[in-house]
Amino acid sequence: MPLIPAGGIATPEQVHELFALGASAVQIGTPFAVTEESDAHANFKRVLAEAKPEDIVTFMSVAGLPARAVKTPWLEKYLIKLPVLQKRANARTDCTLAFDCLEQCGLRDGIERFGQFCIDHHLAAALAGDIERGLFFRGAAPLPFGKQIRPVKDLIAYLLHGTVPVDLQQAGNFLDHTPAL
Ligand SMILES: Cc1cc2nc3c(=O)[nH]c(=O)nc-3n(C[C@H](O)[C@H](O)[C@H](O)COP(=O)(O)O)c2cc1C
Repeated sequence: MPLIPAGGIATPEQVHELFALGASAVQIGTPFAVTEESDAHANFKRVLAEAKPEDIVTFMSVAGLPARAVKTPWLEKYLIKLPVLQKRANARTDCTLAFDCLEQCGLRDGIERFGQFCIDHHLAAALAGDIERGLFFRGAAPLPFGKQIRPVKDLIAYLLHGTVPVDLQQAGNFLDHTPAL
């Protein structure tokens, strides 16, 4: 059975170690989302790349699973209001997005222990680059190139071969971005 580890993989040492342990592949999300070739909105990449560790929060998604995202102004306010929203959780019959949305939604179905926001609405805001209202999911690991948006080839060369782009070597601060294993 193929085994594909995921989550927080962002260094060549991690990739090497996982393959040595028998992984069939590794799945990497956030570092690719912030590459030049990623088709995400420029603001989307900026929010992910510029998030500091303290800006990244975990919370309960509307699907009832833990989620991790960047604390945008909307998410920060939502998390403050959450206990009240959960107390008021009540099944809604007026959701116009239900036909192609989550099978089970904390907000629509009034499930108190799940999240209480409209994921369709806030993901659409993120897609449009709306930093105020968007929901920007992000892994917790520091990114290989810090805040820089770079081509996929640089990321692959780094993750597979440990090759650091020449300009970053010259800047002399590359290791500042690299998480300790
Ligand atoms: C573009 C993007 C979309 C994501 N969408 C979701 C999502 O819909 N629900 C969720 O719980 N997590 C979502 N995540 C977070 C991932 O499940 C995961 O926590 C994270 O990306 C960890 O892997 P990474 O360190 O390789 O990015 C998303 C992450 C990215 C980068």
